[in-house]
Amino acid sequence: MRNAPIGVLDSGMGGLGVLHALRRAMPHERFLYFGDNANAPYGPRPPEEIQALTLRTAHMLMERGVKALVIACNTANSAAGELLKERLPIPVVGVEPDLEDAHACAGGKRVVVFATQATLALPLYQGLRKRLCPDAISIPAPELVMMVERGVLSGAEPEVFFREKLRPWPLEEIGAFVMGCTHFIFLHGALSAVAPGVPIFDGVTPVIASLREALAQADALAASGEGSAELLTSSDDPEVYARMRVLLAAEP
Ligand code: DGL
Repeated sequence: MRNAPIGVLDSGMGGLGVLHALRRAMPHERFLYFGDNANAPYGPRPPEEIQALTLRTAHMLMERGVKALVIACNTANSAAGELLKERLPIPVVGVEPDLEDAHACAGGKRVVVFATQATLALPLYQGLRKRLCPDAISIPAPELVMMVERGVLSGAEPEVFFREKLRPWPLEEIGAFVMGCTHFIFLHGALSAVAPGVPIFDGVTPVIASLREALAQADALAASGEGSAELLTSSDDPEVYARMRVLLAAEP
């Protein structure tokens, strides 16, 4: 059990930013990553479809013997997280928009959340917003998902997007940003270029803490040995696989 891999899933490239952080935090673990790039983006799909795609990937990873599952996708976690926790016999943790840390850090200023349409509409985010930060500004950003899928991580394209979307609010009124989509982990630099000094929360630190705790409870943490990361994708485009390797190596 301790030597079994940990499954990590996303609709595509976004979860690679989570995987990068997981590998650094848990260097003895073996990870098995699945990007459903052939079906990305998930954000514009109805929740039932996102749920079905996520269940299919989770079962495929279970068949490969994973000891835990990280839903490294806010959208998939919003649509299918609870279901997977109920149905799978292994620990399941999922990334969610980190409104808690963002709100605590914003010092009474506004919190701005970038996420997919599905994440912003589903009850997980709606509940967090109502409970923690009712005046959070929610901005759907499907364009950014496709930028990252294409490998565009910096420069004019994301910066113009952020500048346009933030135009209605003076920057000094913004106290924190939430990247509520794992694809956007790769765009911290572009956002900081537009809004220097404003802290960004992407939900990765809390999900790593949850995974560590769940594995410790199940006595399933790898204690020694060299970790690894195997990448799988539903896409048959060799360029997608090449881009995945580049993104995994990139420092998000
Ligand atoms: N990476 C995903 C997320 O965290 C979803 C992007 C998409 O497929 O629309 O929400």
